Amino acid sequence: MIPKTTPKKRIIVHLGNVGYDSARKTRTYADRFNEFKFVGIDKKNIHAHTTNKVSIPKNLKQIESEFLTGILKLKDKSVDLITSDFAVGHYALKEKEKIHGSFGSPKTYLSHKEYTERIMQLCYNKLKVGGKAIFVVFVSPLEENNALGNIKLGIKNIPFQKVDVQTLSPEKLKNISSHWSRFLGMSVIEGQEPYKFYRITLVK
Ligand SMILES: C[S@@+](CC[C@H](N)C(=O)[O-])C[C@H]1O[C@@H](n2cnc3c(N)ncnc32)[C@H](O)[C@@H]1O
Repeated sequence: MIPKTTPKKRIIVHLGNVGYDSARKTRTYADRFNEFKFVGIDKKNIHAHTTNKVSIPKNLKQIESEFLTGILKLKDKSVDLITSDFAVGHYALKEKEKIHGSFGSPKTYLSHKEYTERIMQLCYNKLKVGGKAIFVVFVSPLEENNALGNIKLGIKNIPFQKVDVQTLSPEKLKNISSHWSRFLGMSVIEGQEPYKFYRITLVK
């Protein structure tokens, strides 16, 4: 007789998912797609912007930490999909965050470029072969650090099978359904376009 085994749930990781709506996108997806296991990684507490505790679906594990520490908790070659909306590529790592996992410190431990490069390498290690990573970023002329450039540089020496960069119209941001995609989509002034939006898809 063939023994009954439960197939392992596929794993989806959302990086920088808390934002201002208590990771609503991740919680909604986890509720809707019970056959997947979701992992959220964000240094902000998921309850930070609510007075009531948000309910966390059983198939969502939220890790409160900076990206590298959080990603390291995942098993190598175990992840099917990693996504990040307006988070990875946009940030540097501060000394205090590295040590205590808390906010704020004037001293930078890793620059935007170095931090993004390490995140990319870890994402590659954690993805299964054929697994995907999708990063949505904005580029503002006012921003000193260009998230798209940081990601492109970060993957330069990593053997992803496929790299695809697409521009996103503010209209398309609506499909992303995160707080920041709505906010940024609405901030675009017609004819002026201070922001440009990109989706970077990587396949291991
Ligand atoms: C601009 S918000 C985007 C939130 C959400 N993805 C959205 O689209 O609404 C950036 C998120 O990344 C998180 N974040 C920033 N730097 C981080 C770091 N070094 N490690 C982990 N999370 C970080 C912030 O706490 C915040 O939740």
